[in-house]
Amino acid sequence: MALQLAVSISRDSGESLTAQIQKFIRQEVQQGILHPGTRLPATRRLAEDLGVSRSVVVEAYAQLSAEGYLEAARGAGTRVTGHLSRDAVVPALLDEGPVPAVRWDLRPGGHNAPGVPHREWLTAYQRILQSPQPVGTSYPPLAGEPELRVELARHLGRLRGVRATPSTVLVVAGFAQALALLCAALPAAGITELAVEDPCHPGQRRFVQDGGMRVLPVPVDDEGIDVDALAATTARAVLVTPAHQFPTGAVLSARRREALIRWARAVDGWVIEDDYDGGLWYDDRSPRPLALQRTGSDRVIYAGTASKLLGPGLRLGWLTAPEEILHELLRVRARHDLGSESFTQLALAELLRSGVFDRHVRRLTRRCSARSDALREAVRTQLPGAVVLGPAAGLHACVRLPPHTDEAALVAGALRRRILVRGGAAFAAAPRGAAPALVVGHAHLPLSGVAEAFRELGRVFSGQ
Ligand SMILES: Cc1ncc(COP(=O)(O)O)c(C=O)c1O
Repeated sequence: MALQLAVSISRDSGESLTAQIQKFIRQEVQQGILHPGTRLPATRRLAEDLGVSRSVVVEAYAQLSAEGYLEAARGAGTRVTGHLSRDAVVPALLDEGPVPAVRWDLRPGGHNAPGVPHREWLTAYQRILQSPQPVGTSYPPLAGEPELRVELARHLGRLRGVRATPSTVLVVAGFAQALALLCAALPAAGITELAVEDPCHPGQRRFVQDGGMRVLPVPVDDEGIDVDALAATTARAVLVTPAHQFPTGAVLSARRREALIRWARAVDGWVIEDDYDGGLWYDDRSPRPLALQRTGSDRVIYAGTASKLLGPGLRLGWLTAPEEILHELLRVRARHDLGSESFTQLALAELLRSGVFDRHVRRLTRRCSARSDALREAVRTQLPGAVVLGPAAGLHACVRLPPHTDEAALVAGALRRRILVRGGAAFAAAPRGAAPALVVGHAHLPLSGVAEAFRELGRVFSGQ
């Protein structure tokens, strides 16, 4: 491997060449410029590049290895000592800090779409790389690759009943970017406050606040967001998860859907629909998105993401919105970045076109359905008096605990038994005595894991 290292040495210096190389590398490691795990050039290669004899570099590397700065990895040359732990990397939207080592991680979000069709991804990438029209040699269109926008418009119509055309679809780096762009674009329409559901994804609340908007939490009940309470605020924009409220699982009722659209019209405002697990229903009663509403979809900004169905590492999402807001979003985006990476967009377009995506979602649905059944059974046997809320859908479930349960003690006791689970309080805007609950991500667990984790939870619960 012909690695390079930009070392500066001087032949006029009083210091030996070996000492100069040592000093340079030592300082770069100490200052964090050369990172742990960085592979260095072979001694022969570096000696050639610097025009020095090989023994000069061999000696420098040997001394730095003796001092603990470098290590020789068998068959993999010389590296800067130590490796970055992935645990040290905190996901921006979650902002949770380091996670303890546990046996079962029941948090929703993150690692929750197993069985991504790797072979088909690879084939799609190969085809893109072999395409006669070179990809990646120019900037991608700011709104997204046309091939993907065509496929997304078809997909949204076919699977979610959302009316979109390729020209009203914007490809983004996950819902997080959609939200960031909206927070930057809405002030142009005189909107500086965003109502959010309470409870909701705590990272999103922080994200909106950091994006410069005032956050106005609005309570959620079994019918979804309380539109009367929303109307009592000064908000002109609201972020909702109507198909499957996060985290309670409530489906926004028909009555509330109509009221929400009426509210948006009355305040000349916007409803931002986060259809985060869109289409992942285990029976055929999948509620249609709000964006489908026959009248009023001109008030809805609909957003979806590949994070739940394929994987958050792709950083791929999409939104469709009326043209007036879409133009503002594009204008804002032009100041933030220069578009989403082309290869992944084109690969997703290929997966959508070929039906691989649908097949994958069908498989994922079966998997989640089995885990959801196991979870319901485990709750019934291990947490007497608790109920699983919401419909048969998605990659997580909200478990309402009996009223006397000490939620915080249950969560802490579970952690002592190496089960990491979030209580309902972690999602609430303010502690205000909501019914005790657990929010459980199950899609990533083996079936036996659901039963085992709940056996442990049951022991803590029965000891309360
Ligand atoms: C409610 C909700 N919306 C959206 C997302 C996805 O965000 P992104 O597309 O930025 O990964 C998540 C992920 O956990 C979520 O919980």
